[in-house]
Amino acid sequence: KQIVQVTSGREKVLKGAQMKNIKILHAKPGDGLSIVINRLGDIEAVGFDTEISAKFRTNVFERRVDASDQCVLPGFVDAHTHPIWAGDRVHEFRMKLAGASYMDIHNAGGGIHYTVEHTKRASEETLFRSLRDRLLRMTKAGTTVAECKSGYGLNADTELKMLRVLERAKRELTFVDISITFCGAHAIPKEMTEETATKAIINDQLPAIARAIRLGEISVDNIDVFCEKGVFELESTKRILEAGKTMGLRVNFHADEIYPLGGAEMGASIGAEVMSHLEKISDKAIHEMAKYEGIAVVLPTTAYILKLESPPVRKMIDANVPIALGSDFNPNAFCLAMPMVMHMACILFKMSLEEALVASTINAAASLGMSETHGSIEVGKKGDLVLVDVPTWEHLVYQFGEHDHLIQMVIKDGLVA
Ligand code: NIG
Ligand code: FE
Repeated sequence: KQIVQVTSGREKVLKGAQMKNIKILHAKPGDGLSIVINRLGDIEAVGFDTEISAKFRTNVFERRVDASDQCVLPGFVDAHTHPIWAGDRVHEFRMKLAGASYMDIHNAGGGIHYTVEHTKRASEETLFRSLRDRLLRMTKAGTTVAECKSGYGLNADTELKMLRVLERAKRELTFVDISITFCGAHAIPKEMTEETATKAIINDQLPAIARAIRLGEISVDNIDVFCEKGVFELESTKRILEAGKTMGLRVNFHADEIYPLGGAEMGASIGAEVMSHLEKISDKAIHEMAKYEGIAVVLPTTAYILKLESPPVRKMIDANVPIALGSDFNPNAFCLAMPMVMHMACILFKMSLEEALVASTINAAASLGMSETHGSIEVGKKGDLVLVDVPTWEHLVYQFGEHDHLIQMVIKDGLVA
């Protein structure tokens, strides 16, 4: 019924008013729409059947998928996830319901520390299996690209273990593309101070990672730090990010989530490609990010579960900051589904349906440096599609919690996922 193209041009990232730029092809009665994907998994043609049949002989097609009653969207890109860990925290969910704050639990040795204890003890095989199951559930909800962070190791051995498992997933799993993020600076290990932890990351973890990259054992795309009051503050965050930058990693970090520390201003000063959360971002940082096109990844599940004040998304959009969305899937915010995230972004962050879709596709791809190849249904890009049984695409966001029933098929690189 509809093919939703998200962008009409070749813009790599959509900002402000451009975020409404969604091109929708509507099938006319008697003249359907088709998408042709070639053997490499790339989109070869998009258009009305009359145009397609003028271009291709019917016998060249190996397989046809009939989506005539459905709407076709680009595969979703989840810009921020923590999908590899052991040790869920349902008991902390109960504590938070009873009034405990995220930082109270963290400072008492729970939170990330609790998950670290369990992840340290888990085997690579166990971690791989749970990671694969989670990624598969993400894909069933429409995600075809996911950013995946390490960060429940907090020492070189366990961080490397997580990165090896992520690398295996990147190589073996055909239903999702993965952008790997080293997030060793996710918490200060109990026996360390901020300074000794910072030194351990720069002098111990990063060199061990560089060695494993040289040996072809792992690959890493981005570097992350949990920049927060009482965790890694401005100075240590900057040192860690700069050390990652010199290794060629893209800077993609947690800033200004709970306390207005000035993380985003610091990030802008070093030209951070991506910053996440930003509930407490300053006006100055918004202005700076707009200037150099730093991408803001906003995370409604976390704001919801921790009852945080929403990030100033409307202000950022008005200022032309490109916005991307992520599920922030982690043991604190256990949500794997981008349709749910889009719904929450519309309600909590006052984003329009179009803005939420752009933020979950082309802009999220741009945040991972992948928007030349992913994030929209355009000739030359990957054949990543979500087929949804709805009258118009908006229903997928409107009918929240129903995505399992509405999504009929996900296609990744031209193959049924
Ligand atoms: O994005 N804030 C830090 N990191 C994650 C939470 C990780 C955890 O609690 O396990 C986040 O919210
Ligand atoms: Fe996070």
